[in-house]
Amino acid sequence: MTDGTSPEEFSTGGSRDSERDHPQNTSSYPQGSSLGGLGAGQGVSRETQLTEADAVSRETAAPPPSPVRTAAQLADTPAGFDDDLTPLARAAQATVLVRAGIPQEQLSRPSETRIFVVANQKGGVGKTTSTVNLAAALTQLGQRVLVIDLDPQGNASTALNIEHRQGTPSTYELLVDGASIVDLARPCPDAAGLWVVPATIDLAGAEIELVSVVAREQRLKKALDAHPRIGTAQAVGEERFDYVLIDCPPSLGLLTLNALVAGAEMLIPIQAEYYALEGLGQLLATVDMVRAHLNPDLAVSTIVLTMYDARTRLAAGVAQEVREHFGDQVLKTAIPRSVRVSEAPSYGQTVMTYDPGSPGALSYLEAAREIVVRGSLS
Ligand SMILES: Nc1ncnc2c1ncn2[C@@H]1O[C@H](COP(=O)(O)OP(=O)(O)O)[C@@H](O)[C@H]1O
Ligand SMILES: [Mg+2]
Repeated sequence: MTDGTSPEEFSTGGSRDSERDHPQNTSSYPQGSSLGGLGAGQGVSRETQLTEADAVSRETAAPPPSPVRTAAQLADTPAGFDDDLTPLARAAQATVLVRAGIPQEQLSRPSETRIFVVANQKGGVGKTTSTVNLAAALTQLGQRVLVIDLDPQGNASTALNIEHRQGTPSTYELLVDGASIVDLARPCPDAAGLWVVPATIDLAGAEIELVSVVAREQRLKKALDAHPRIGTAQAVGEERFDYVLIDCPPSLGLLTLNALVAGAEMLIPIQAEYYALEGLGQLLATVDMVRAHLNPDLAVSTIVLTMYDARTRLAAGVAQEVREHFGDQVLKTAIPRSVRVSEAPSYGQTVMTYDPGSPGALSYLEAAREIVVRGSLS
């Protein structure tokens, strides 16, 4: 450990040499981001990648105090997770469980549906990837999840293997025609307890069609409020959804606005890369505006660092800066850049089923666990 920006403070759920095939040509980290003081004067110097030998010695220099149990011990106590395990130890346990085909520990459900808006007006930062993989991971932890695809590209629908050809009943009908979510949601074939309202290309026209509609920014909220399985345990019972994840398009238009009005928690994926923080100021200003005028309950509860490359100081620098600004809102688990994660959608799968033992899958599982546990503490 050579400096204060050690990647070790982030769990990436494990790493494999075969996953380390995305060298990043790092130049300098942008000095002046648009996020207030964030970034100014704190640039991370031009950095080279660590050699494999460096990476290995870093990893072996400070071994975690690991109470990992053997596979035989785990087999004797399949549900016996310890909450005080380090993330690395837990990832190791999760790996053993995954490889042995033993279900993950089922976590307790929230007493009320938690509605997350996954948004960042930057494209390609991992919104969709995080939505679908967290959703699948949450179901593995015993949660019931509804994904709402609000991006006309329909990438979340693709990854979750849900039909979304033009004309398929979708979020377009939800927003424009006032169709009910009960009629639109489809079960994900690969994950029990996961339902999806798909998006089709029709949604691309919705922003214009909604212009003349009264309370056009409230359409999604109305649909969620009307759902018989969304709400508190008292009001809607045990069949309720525990999590709703809304995958937003890369813009701050009417679609994203509908999500911000409907949700209570915002989940912002931030790519641990150049310009990661650029535009965040605008996003946070939008959140403030929505909170002031349309949805006082909205809070940025969760930041997840995506495509994290532990070999570069650039990634560690971005991570440190994000953490300085957002503090505990940032999940301890960062999602590593992983080929398996990017391959999974082309098989109509999440990485959670495509390669459950891969670092990407284990990281999303750990991130989902953090989200559940944090919610139960607040
Ligand atoms: N952890 C990761 N490792 C490797 N590739 C990733 C990872 N997360 C996302 N990607 C890839 O990056 C691209 C953009 O991700 P996506 O989730 O579609 O972003 P967004 O929804 O914000 O536009 C996709 O090709 C996706 O497969
Ligand atoms: Mg997307």
